Amino acid sequence: MKIMITGAGGQLGQDCLQVFGAAHQVRALGHRELDITRQARVAETVENIRPDLIINCAAHTGVDACEAEEALARELNVSGPRFLAESAARRGSLLVHISTDYVFDGQKPISEGYAETDEPGPLSVYGKTKLAGEKAVGEVTENHIILRTAWLYGIKGHNFLKTMLRLACADPARELKVVNDQFGSPTWSYRLAQQIKKLVDKDARGIYHATAEGVCTWYELAGFFLENMNVAHRLVPCTSEEFPTAAVRPRNSILENRRLKEADINIMTPWQDDVAQYAAQFSGQLLQEVAR
Ligand SMILES: NC(=O)c1ccc[n+]([C@@H]2O[C@H](COP(=O)([O-])OP(=O)(O)OC[C@H]3O[C@@H](n4cnc5c(N)ncnc54)[C@H](OP(=O)(O)O)[C@@H]3O)[C@@H](O)[C@H]2O)c1
Repeated sequence: MKIMITGAGGQLGQDCLQVFGAAHQVRALGHRELDITRQARVAETVENIRPDLIINCAAHTGVDACEAEEALARELNVSGPRFLAESAARRGSLLVHISTDYVFDGQKPISEGYAETDEPGPLSVYGKTKLAGEKAVGEVTENHIILRTAWLYGIKGHNFLKTMLRLACADPARELKVVNDQFGSPTWSYRLAQQIKKLVDKDARGIYHATAEGVCTWYELAGFFLENMNVAHRLVPCTSEEFPTAAVRPRNSILENRRLKEADINIMTPWQDDVAQYAAQFSGQLLQEVAR
């Protein structure tokens, strides 16, 4: 199979390259190779590569920055996916597009997760544009898989775990306030790439939720990760009000992998197993990176 990955320099893009590259012919296009907001370039690139499958990992992922950069967020999270969908439809390629837990308002009780059938209600510009991106893809082509995931971390790029590690390593005695009233499922981009492969192999279509199994808060995640990294720290739990951010985040960010389970293709594992494996596998690399 011929596969084109956009946003290939990011966390998920790099892991998709690793997972799909083992068995397929992959063209991995970073931001510099293909800007997905340029309609003509997108069309030309898809015509040249003639992919069977396009995996769009490009997005404006700066949740807080999106509040001040709404036009850019729309270009990246709505227009770009639409251009990819149009080109995919012309060629008959399957489009895998990635979306987010932030399409929901998080008002459900913490004992319940969001299923694919639940009504979205995004709170932030990021969430609104990602939802509009899903709709744009759906309007253009039925030949799509839209995968909503959450709290991603990988070895490439920036993420919450690396931020916590950087702060703890810089000064282990410093009190670090971490939000303890938002609940979600931290998801390893490598595991997600494997789940995407499973969906593609099984000829799935439509919207799926795919996050790690189990639930925690940002505070619990930070503590678990730093302990696995054997890094001293002084974490202090706080509320969302005590840690104000430009974008409002859902209190309940829990996604239920309902459709994956119904189809018996859920390969997502408990978040603790993946965070522990990530720490064990990349500990040296991560410590070097945050020391720079
Ligand atoms: N990160 C999370 O916690 C999270 C949670 C839920 C869902 N998601 C979704 O999962 C997907 C992958 O996220 P990720 O964490 O892997 O993101 P990431 O690491 O931020 O990667 C996104 C990539 O998109 C590239 N990009 C930016 N503008 C572009 C453009 N105009 N054309 C082409 N590429 C462009 C970026 O390149 P430059 O850096 O060079 O600009 C970057 O390499 C996204 O759709 C995201 O919305 C992420």
